[in-house]
Amino acid sequence: MYRISELAERVGLSRTTLLYYEKIGLIKGKRLENSYRMYSDKDLQRLKLIQQLQAGGLTLKECQACLDAKIDRELLQGRLKTLDDEIAQKQRSRDLLAALLGEGDTKAWHTEAGKSAPDAHLEWLIKQGFNEKEALRLKWLSKNMNEHDQYMADFMHVFNALDRWGPGSEIDTLRALGAVPFKPENILEIGCGRGIATTVLAQNTDAKITALDNETTALARMMERATQAGVADRIETVCASMTDIPLEKGQFDLIWAEGSAYVMGVNNALKQWRSLLSGNGVLVLSDMVWSVESPNPAIKEFLAGEYPDLTTAGVRIEQAKAAGYAVLDTFTMSKEAWDAITRRWASACLNSKQACRIRRH
Ligand SMILES: C[S@@+](CC[C@H](N)C(=O)[O-])C[C@H]1O[C@@H](n2cnc3c(N)ncnc32)[C@H](O)[C@@H]1O
Repeated sequence: MYRISELAERVGLSRTTLLYYEKIGLIKGKRLENSYRMYSDKDLQRLKLIQQLQAGGLTLKECQACLDAKIDRELLQGRLKTLDDEIAQKQRSRDLLAALLGEGDTKAWHTEAGKSAPDAHLEWLIKQGFNEKEALRLKWLSKNMNEHDQYMADFMHVFNALDRWGPGSEIDTLRALGAVPFKPENILEIGCGRGIATTVLAQNTDAKITALDNETTALARMMERATQAGVADRIETVCASMTDIPLEKGQFDLIWAEGSAYVMGVNNALKQWRSLLSGNGVLVLSDMVWSVESPNPAIKEFLAGEYPDLTTAGVRIEQAKAAGYAVLDTFTMSKEAWDAITRRWASACLNSKQACRIRRH
């Protein structure tokens, strides 16, 4: 048995609060002959339960109803939902703090931040001391600040064996070029990689081509390919970021971006690159979009982490219109375009000792 002051100390409540609880019938003290009130273990336990229920967002009246087994299921379900939301919110805050301290697996946090606040997330990575190229790679590829360097070393090891760094094929490049309603004279290719499309564009137009990428080794390989194909004299390289292109506005009649606009977000790319086009200039880009109405939930969940901005062709068309473009044509790239990268990537992985590490990531 406890005196009221002892009980108050055990549960961290004031004497006045306990007297109030007694008045409304939540606890029941026994008055002794010496007029002291004494409380049982049962009162202590009821108080502890009440405190837990209150922490779950219930009012005193609702706590009382629960203890009297008069449970309002709907009300409790509502409180449960609120609690779940609060816990998820707290978990996100915890992940952020852990990420700021460089602790634990930061993949989940990067995935979430990349989805809910992509620009702020990139800005934060840059403030951490990564340059923009590293920050974009961390954001899109490794998503783990602790293992980023090793991941990138593995990634480049596999990709070094490939010339094509994104889905595509010569047939698809030519099909898109065929939809351009004039003979281009001045092409800017953004994210040209090792120049697979660059060579095709050079061989099938008389245009001068500016090939931009932020990877010097890719540009060097692109020039090698162009030299072999005998078209190098019409190609100029620019090593720069697609987010801040150091070229005069309004000078290109065709901008080409195969599998690269996603790096800065297709919608951002549509808006920012438009000023580089001349009056009736045309932008051609490829992007991964949903081709089915109801994607498999497991695939959807996986891709929500890998490409949070993944959407449908319809949404991309609307974004293009909103950015001031008239959409001339869209098409689904051939199966060969996709196989070209997946098959080669898989075989490059198998040929690489580092492959198992990449698969684990
Ligand atoms: C998926 S690859 C596609 C490459 C090429 N278009 C192809 O289909 O093989 C994306 C390309 O964008 C380049 N890239 C990534 N971030 C970039 C940036 N911030 N500025 C310019 N190029 C970037 C990469 O180096 C890479 O070559």
